[in-house]
Amino acid sequence: MPTIPSSDVDLYTEQARIDPYPIYAQLRELGPVVYLSQYDLYALPRYDEVRAASTDWRTFSSARGVFVDPAVNAQLEGITLCSDPPEHTALRSVLGRPLRQDRMREVTPRIEAEADRVVGELVERGRFEVVTDLAEHLPMTVVSDLVGLPEHARAKMLDWAAAIWDTQGPADDRAAAATPIVGEFLDFAVNDAVPGKIDPDGWAAHLYQAADRGEIPREKCPVVMLDYITPSLDTTILAITNAIALFAEHPDQWDLLRADRSLIPHAINESLRLESPVPQFSRVLTDDHEIGGVALPAGARVALLYASANRDERHYPDPTRFDITRRPADHLAFGRGEHVCVGMHLARLEMGVLLERLADRVTRFHIRDSRPLINNGLRGLDRLEVDIESVREHGRELVR
Ligand code: HEM
Repeated sequence: MPTIPSSDVDLYTEQARIDPYPIYAQLRELGPVVYLSQYDLYALPRYDEVRAASTDWRTFSSARGVFVDPAVNAQLEGITLCSDPPEHTALRSVLGRPLRQDRMREVTPRIEAEADRVVGELVERGRFEVVTDLAEHLPMTVVSDLVGLPEHARAKMLDWAAAIWDTQGPADDRAAAATPIVGEFLDFAVNDAVPGKIDPDGWAAHLYQAADRGEIPREKCPVVMLDYITPSLDTTILAITNAIALFAEHPDQWDLLRADRSLIPHAINESLRLESPVPQFSRVLTDDHEIGGVALPAGARVALLYASANRDERHYPDPTRFDITRRPADHLAFGRGEHVCVGMHLARLEMGVLLERLADRVTRFHIRDSRPLINNGLRGLDRLEVDIESVREHGRELVR
């Protein structure tokens, strides 16, 4: 049996957080599984293996954590993301209730109204910063209202969520700086996001009501509540921002989308494929297992490199090309299998409504300035300043 190629690349340097793609290409070239000596981690950089691992929870377990640092994995065992069936099934079914595709009808009018308002204002301005002025708006207003947390939490939610993501890599300086903020978030979840202090009709309150009916253990409610916040904000904000950056860089693709709105779902998939906000999670092998012809031992931690798999030239021809007619519905940016993103319908709805409204009003995006996000669990842009050309009632007008 062939030996496993090994690499000492560091996926957590500042440069690698900004642009991991050359490293991913090297890893894909090395083989279907590569031992990352820096973290005692077996990385799966290619599409087929990531997809197969995502859909085999019995062999690739989430119950011992899905991150890199052993201490963080131990601390978060048992949350929805870090559990296996049957515990996972119960948590996910309660958590996912308001996020089911058929429930999106209830939130659509609100999301559309907010999108109308914010896009209208920004088109009037002509120049704006995409992250704070546009992308944060829907997750931070609509979603946080729906969860129904106390008002004072809203100002802190983004810092709390970013801190949790920062602890998802190795125990480095970024993780150390984030740890006290994570503590504050957990404290809030246990002491402040509880019945009596939360909106009785909100998603968080529904968790406690499900616990009262015996559907999930009550002590799980605070951490399950975190699932409405931590994975829902930055991911969607980055996805929206990445999509705008791609359309600014590829005006021909924006023209295509404006001319044919049925391309919007494909554009969402294509932008998520090319710029995946969540580059990786991991699993632990429950048994000795062969991957791509090489044997891995039970207990090995295996990293599923979604962002690399989504650019695997074995699966997507010319993978770095942004092409909204490609229809890559099988991308792995939302994961697959038991843990496939439970919020993906909401994320798609938010992205779709914004793209639709922007397509009505904006003919061109021009990037003035951008800044990459440096975070151990997420990837994308932290800042994106644009000028737009817009359609006004009486024809086309360049606003600069
Ligand atoms: C574009 C935006 C988003 C991206 C790229 C994204 C990405 C992901 C990925 C890759 C996973 C798979 C985890 C795994 O396989 O271990 C996941 C799971 C999850 N996502 Fe999302 N997500 C997004 C939006 C959201 C939203 C809006 C919410 C909540 C409202 C959410 C909540 C969750 C939760 C709770 C899980 C864990 C599901 C489970 O373990 O069963 N996500 N997400």
